[in-house]
Amino acid sequence: MSKLKEQAARARAVARSSPAVRKAASKVLGRVPPPGGENASAWTIKDTPLRTLVDRYQGSFPLPAASYGTVEDFADSADNMPGLAGANFDMKDLQRCWMLKAILGNVPVGSRLLEIGAGEPLVAGALSRIGYDVTVVDAYDGSGNGPKEFETFRTAYPDLAFVREHFPPQTPVGDDFAAIYSISVLEHVPLDVIDSVMGRSRELLAKERGVSIHAVDHVLAGWGAEEHLEKLRRIATGMGLGDAQLDAALAELEDDPETYFVSAESHNRWRGALPYDQYRMRRIVSVNLFSGATS
Ligand SMILES: C[S@@+](CC[C@H](N)C(=O)[O-])C[C@H]1O[C@@H](n2cnc3c(N)ncnc32)[C@H](O)[C@@H]1O
Repeated sequence: MSKLKEQAARARAVARSSPAVRKAASKVLGRVPPPGGENASAWTIKDTPLRTLVDRYQGSFPLPAASYGTVEDFADSADNMPGLAGANFDMKDLQRCWMLKAILGNVPVGSRLLEIGAGEPLVAGALSRIGYDVTVVDAYDGSGNGPKEFETFRTAYPDLAFVREHFPPQTPVGDDFAAIYSISVLEHVPLDVIDSVMGRSRELLAKERGVSIHAVDHVLAGWGAEEHLEKLRRIATGMGLGDAQLDAALAELEDDPETYFVSAESHNRWRGALPYDQYRMRRIVSVNLFSGATS
């Protein structure tokens, strides 16, 4: 095993056993949704700004097959949906807002959507309030540094359909989804099951018109970079994207001053109580992938 791989394995083991890292990496800071009542995503976007978002992005957010999170996009989100863009104080703030725009821009309102690994389903909740029919598939078992508060979320988001399983689920969910999407999830899926996750995901899309949209945390440099690249390639291939499309995006983001990188502050929060040399900084971006059912 190479030195970097060894360091990656050690850091992952430490992170897995650290409640501080697990909590900080996945939780919306400082808030638990109230029990019952209306869909709790309103704490990040109220109804009036949500309607403004629909007017602004509906049918109007073109997606390349492979792109990456930018500071320009984050600034646009901070201006137009500050609550959602400030809920986590890390890269999820960028990715959740981008996903909301990506769905609004490319999938007709009213369509069936499936979110893989929603955690607290802030984006699914907002999309449901807009008029989409959203199913969440998430085991809520703490995997991928995710939350476990399944009952809390089920009660707080009564309009969402929840399937409490890992994707692909055993429970039948239908195969007519206009979009299957995920935010900061696929990089956590083990390499030996990623092909089946991607394959099944394509099978559940509506023929001809279904799309896949995934925002993937990608480690460009530092521990785990090699494994991240291998998995990212498998994710892209599983979506029907060519190597050239992914490589072009990866090459472009290296020199683009707009590229959004996870900050030292975010890293330090994820580190929690761990000594720095057990959880060192990495260069992390969001790689954003988009494909049609027939790509
Ligand atoms: C880092 S959290 C991200 C949660 C959410 N997408 C967000 O933006 O806050 C990763 C989530 O993926 C879920 N997850 C991991 N592997 C999964 C799988 N194979 N199928 C479904 N969900 C999965 C975990 O349970 C966790 O909720």
